[in-house]
Amino acid sequence: MSRPLPVVGDLLAFQSDRLRFVASTHRDQGDVARFRLGPFPVWQLAHPDHVRSVLVTDAAAFRKGMVLQRARVVLGDGLLTAEGDVHRHHRDLVQPAFHSRRITGYASVMADRAAAVSGGWRAREPLDVHAATVRMTLDTAGTTLLGTSVDVGTVEGALADLLSAYKLAFLPFSEKLQGLPVGPLRRLQRGRKRLHGLVDSVVAERVSSGRDGGDLLSALVLGADRLSDEELRDEATTLLLAGHETTANTLAFALHLLAVHPSVQASVHAEVDGVGSPGPDDVDRLPLCRAVVSEALRLYPPSWMMGRQALVEYPIGSHVIEPGDLVVLPQWVVHHDARWWPQPFSFDPSRWLGDAGDRPRWAFFPFGAGLRRCIGEGFAWTEAVLGLATVARRWRLRPVPGRPLRLDPLITLRPRGGLWLIPEPR
Ligand code: HEM
Repeated sequence: MSRPLPVVGDLLAFQSDRLRFVASTHRDQGDVARFRLGPFPVWQLAHPDHVRSVLVTDAAAFRKGMVLQRARVVLGDGLLTAEGDVHRHHRDLVQPAFHSRRITGYASVMADRAAAVSGGWRAREPLDVHAATVRMTLDTAGTTLLGTSVDVGTVEGALADLLSAYKLAFLPFSEKLQGLPVGPLRRLQRGRKRLHGLVDSVVAERVSSGRDGGDLLSALVLGADRLSDEELRDEATTLLLAGHETTANTLAFALHLLAVHPSVQASVHAEVDGVGSPGPDDVDRLPLCRAVVSEALRLYPPSWMMGRQALVEYPIGSHVIEPGDLVVLPQWVVHHDARWWPQPFSFDPSRWLGDAGDRPRWAFFPFGAGLRRCIGEGFAWTEAVLGLATVARRWRLRPVPGRPLRLDPLITLRPRGGLWLIPEPR
């Protein structure tokens, strides 16, 4: 790797190709690696034992990393960005909405939305499957969590504005720059305004009507332990964003993998045909669909790198992480490590159909780990498996010649320029 520059450190190399940067850092320096992003010393930890230490056993020694700290400007004290007691309090309030019984209740909405969106596809015409899966998951999140259908264009436009500011997170003083009316910062402000405008009107309607729609927002508004309007907005904004994009990306990547592996696609069709029209009780009857989703999460983890900042001195092997240093745990590296995953870049759903052998528990952590583990994990599995089965029941997918999958690692890993496939009726 080239020598870091004094002020920006490895920021330019990192920003020019982030996936290659974290992979080559691991190759060159091993499981405990160091680099600098702007003013911040960064430790890249890439052994499953490190994942357990930082996220589970010693989680109290760390706070969220720079990207999520900066995201507070949009997400405030929502679950993803809150720390300490505020986080614990909100997690207790939100958790019941993600009980497995509730998710079974949401499953018919998930299957309906997947059928409605994929039912409108035109046979043999190239289609941006990522745009379609975003529509499915955003509709589902709006209905089940906020009790309303949200405008896809508004949320996607706002999300694109917010993601464009990702590259600023590691600049020195970036928190002080946020009010400046320049390029991506202006887009960040615009995205925040659009999103908050949408969420505020949904929350205001619910507060004034007192209507119980059986969704998460009703539970938060009507519960005895009522959150303030600002807290409601933060939570609703967080769940709307965190609750749709990652699952949409997973489902789009899974469909891409089927399109480029026709023999697995044929086996998925056989499994789905044995089940019929997939519904809430069928998730356990679709083990191959689940294995395909698992491989999608391994090969293309939507959370491709998790960040933390050390609060105290933290020893790691013969090194000491200083308070204020950043720590990154890159799923992109751990999920492609040949020590845990033979032929790590090959798509092989059979890895998930037998027992895991002696693979370490934290060699796979698409949903994080410990107290801050994804609250929507069960929701996401159900939605992705039912979505995959619903599409596979009706369509056979083919790649579009000349439009290969390209990756865009921002806060989440997403396809760059859409994910284009050709649907053929079965
Ligand atoms: C495949 C889909 C998903 C992936 C890969 C994913 C990944 C993650 C990861 C890695 C974290 C931990 C972040 C950290 O510790 O810094 C997280 C947290 C979170 N996720 Fe997800 N997520 C997915 C789907 C969802 C869904 C469907 C929802 C809601 C409906 C959701 C809501 C949240 C929330 C609220 C948190 C913060 C939890 C807390 O700190 O208590 N996620 N997610």
